[in-house]
Amino acid sequence: MADAAKQRYALITGANKGIGFQICRQLASRGMVVILAARDEKRGIEAREKLKEFDNVVFQQLDVADPASVAAVFEFIKSTFGRLDILVNNAGIRGVDVAGDVSVLEEYIVADCAFFEAGGQVEEPFHPKAEGKLVETLKNAEECIETNYYGAKRVTEALIPLLQLSDSPRIVNVSSTLGSLVLQPNEVAKRVLSSKEGLTEERVDEVVQEFIKDLKKGKVEEKQWPPHFAAYKVSKAALNAYTWLAAQRHPRFLVNSVCPGFARTDITFNHGPLSEVEAAEAPVKMALLPDGGPSGSFFHRLEALSL
Ligand SMILES: NC(=O)c1ccc[n+]([C@@H]2O[C@H](COP(=O)([O-])OP(=O)(O)OC[C@H]3O[C@@H](n4cnc5c(N)ncnc54)[C@H](OP(=O)(O)O)[C@@H]3O)[C@@H](O)[C@H]2O)c1
Repeated sequence: MADAAKQRYALITGANKGIGFQICRQLASRGMVVILAARDEKRGIEAREKLKEFDNVVFQQLDVADPASVAAVFEFIKSTFGRLDILVNNAGIRGVDVAGDVSVLEEYIVADCAFFEAGGQVEEPFHPKAEGKLVETLKNAEECIETNYYGAKRVTEALIPLLQLSDSPRIVNVSSTLGSLVLQPNEVAKRVLSSKEGLTEERVDEVVQEFIKDLKKGKVEEKQWPPHFAAYKVSKAALNAYTWLAAQRHPRFLVNSVCPGFARTDITFNHGPLSEVEAAEAPVKMALLPDGGPSGSFFHRLEALSL
């Protein structure tokens, strides 16, 4: 291994499978010491085993929704490596189940991406062809917000003291095009999350809590929250806003969020044009940004790859 001063240490959350696992592989093959974090010990150890050609990968248990587990990761990194250079907040869930034909999920994602690409200009109502139905329960929604937004924030806040010891700290939040504000019909959420002036973490949290409150009262439609993937869209929009705030607070860090693209993983029921390997490329690129690179931005896959 390289000497400790030059060695770079990277933590990837939700790394036992999918895009996170491939981010680990790609960073390990570039010589980083990779902390492959997974909430389930057995699945994490098995994933580590699949990377046995590398002697620079270690497994660590981490449930981003569990503050005790986050605290244990901090202690592990502090006592083993002394600092952290790269944090990739990749762990995520879709916050929705499907009853019937799961390919309906792909249809909704493709329709949302078309709406995004048209800048919100598509007028016709969307009717999926597949005989499946998206099921978004309160439990699904709360877990989604807890994992995708509060989980990423919790891990980041806990590990900032270790990132401050790096001479080139990087934080990559794996976000989604579905978190774009073009796909957010709730005007208050759109206004608050898009405003740089006066934006605070408290205001981001207020938007998220307002969504949960409306969900509990059955007011999702009345308050014009997204008609589908509502929790996922709110969680990723909040994550993007938090990314900007964290970048302002830590000017020495490069903190960005990135959509990896629509990829065949468990979260998409293995639908989508990209492989897991291809989807890992953009987050890896953001993790390896040279000093002086962008910070506080949300990148789509191709934008990230063109940097
Ligand atoms: N695939 C796509 O098309 C796509 C597009 C845009 C954005 N993304 C984002 O990319 C990221 C990775 O998703 P993926 O496509 O690779 O999906 P995936 O294969 O389902 O992987 C998700 C990972 O997150 C982990 N996870 C879930 N809850 C967790 C928790 N509380 N603590 C720690 N880990 C947890 C899962 O662990 P378990 O195995 O234990 O469940 C799994 O390792 C997500 O943030 C997702 O929103 C994906």
